Amino acid sequence: MCGIVGYIGGKQAQSILLEGLSKLEYRGYDSAGLAIYNGQQLNVEKSKGRLMDLETKLATSGLQGSLGIGHTRWATHGKPSDENSHPHVDHDGKFAIVHNGIIENYIELKEELIAKGYRFTSQTDTEVLAKLLADHWDGGLLSTVQKVVARLHGAYALGIISEYEPDKMIAVRYASPLVIGIGEGENFIASDIPAILKHTRDVYIMEDGEMAVIYEAGVELMMMDGTPIKRESMRVDWDIETAEKGGFDHFMMKEIYEQPKAIRDTLASRVKGNIVDLSQEIGLTLEQIQNIEKIHFVACGTAYHAGLVGKYVLEDLARIPVECDVASEYRYRNPIITDRTLVVVVSQSGETADTLAALREAQKHGARVMAITNVVGSSVAREADDVITTWAGPEIAVASTKAYTSQLIAIYLLGLYFAQAKGYKSAEELQGIVTDLLTLPEKVEEVLKQEKTVEAFARSIAKHNNLFFLGRGLDYAVALEGSLKLKEISYIHSEAYAAGELKHGTLALIEDNIPVIALATQQSVFEKTVSNIQEVKARGAYVLGLAVEGDTGLIKSVDEVITIPQVSDLFAPVLAVVPLQLLAYYACVERGYDVDKPRNLAKSVTVE
Ligand code: F6R
Repeated sequence: MCGIVGYIGGKQAQSILLEGLSKLEYRGYDSAGLAIYNGQQLNVEKSKGRLMDLETKLATSGLQGSLGIGHTRWATHGKPSDENSHPHVDHDGKFAIVHNGIIENYIELKEELIAKGYRFTSQTDTEVLAKLLADHWDGGLLSTVQKVVARLHGAYALGIISEYEPDKMIAVRYASPLVIGIGEGENFIASDIPAILKHTRDVYIMEDGEMAVIYEAGVELMMMDGTPIKRESMRVDWDIETAEKGGFDHFMMKEIYEQPKAIRDTLASRVKGNIVDLSQEIGLTLEQIQNIEKIHFVACGTAYHAGLVGKYVLEDLARIPVECDVASEYRYRNPIITDRTLVVVVSQSGETADTLAALREAQKHGARVMAITNVVGSSVAREADDVITTWAGPEIAVASTKAYTSQLIAIYLLGLYFAQAKGYKSAEELQGIVTDLLTLPEKVEEVLKQEKTVEAFARSIAKHNNLFFLGRGLDYAVALEGSLKLKEISYIHSEAYAAGELKHGTLALIEDNIPVIALATQQSVFEKTVSNIQEVKARGAYVLGLAVEGDTGLIKSVDEVITIPQVSDLFAPVLAVVPLQLLAYYACVERGYDVDKPRNLAKSVTVE
């Protein structure tokens, strides 16, 4: 994620930029920084930690000037530190740049610059851009930026200022959001509208492939090659609070809708020509992968549910035996760990106390520990031997949504990477699976179109105090997650059962009109699941079925049905969980509870 802001006008930039960044902290809070031109030179102040830490640094002297850019960071390349904070500058301090996104070819560009004698002080991809600006300087800021941008692969929203041409600021957008705010005698850029809403309601929403030269008195919008663009500005009529949530009522809904992007970002640069390549992040050699005797997935809550999917995925694709355990049990149960055990800890925050303790316990017993985490530089990421980062961006709502689906994607990538090394499936078969994997973002978009159907069902179940989720195989793993989501925000008691297990006791609880949500996305056990649905129907349950499009067999057995697009059994969890997230959301709204901050819960559980 990361948030960027920029100001050019007649006022002092510092307070405007800081205030803007405070509205963007939801996009990242690993570090913050400003670069401001004081009439003679660019001055930079930056600090690891929250925006507050930067404000403390600025409290004594402060930065003077009315042209500036600012950044709040969600670490991607390089841990959170002062050096890795933005803005980045070139060696002579003539250019300052803030960046949101990921430059995929930065290593290649960095090597080229190092060969020319450039020295780097950070591990970021963005510092490469600052040095490239100096290297490509041709006497004109716009043309220099165009030359640099032409060399980039990846995603980037950029704000650039230079001592050479202090009458302007340059904005560039490709696959990361950027808006331009139009004021009177002053103009702004920002990653998101709330950052500038206090100053103006007139904005240009930049599109991919566009750039802009922004002066105090006006804005020139153009394509990357300089072709001018004529566009009406948009008038924003949201209040600040709605704007922070991107127009959604709650962060949870915003994050549910961010899932296609989170999945795309987690896949990006790890799939090359239908081959999964994790060699940049995983240090295991081919021989070490082939030597893995057992995998333990260890995590808490939703991340544990991702681990349950991991068990199916790794066993199916790589034929490695997998155990999955909740971290608070694992750390105390003296598990059998050898130097041929790979322990995979899954944690959105990377700070969960039990998960961290399990990681340490595993390492103490000689296991290699791999982390799947959303937070670069978190404790889990720092201490693990290998890290696969999920690129979901900061998750604000306590109930995890986009982090979970991104964890699933990381697990699929791991499964496929190991499968390629183990060779149980043919190369063609694996490439076919990768092709399917790449279709998931669009398919999640399709599922989201069913929001209204789910909403209606959620409102109808909101008056109940008990309900059940059923599923077999991977559907059972997703049922557990759906049940947790519903419990934690709507406070409706629910239980998830392996559909075949119900008749061993719990069927006694099924009575007239009790809602049952039956997942039937797994073709391999479809008929079996339908039989279990009939068992609960026969006892009066009101059943919502979740099936793959075209499964007419289910419609006759249930009261209502929600479908997901055609998908293989393996990848169905990514789609099936989405209606369940929406269900929990709308049940909570209907019952009038706080969606983003459920009672008794915290986003990051750093105590046992
Ligand atoms: C539920 C939820 C929690 C977390 C759990 C682990 O919606 O978010 O169950 O999954 O507390 O947190 P992380 O992934 O940060 O280790």
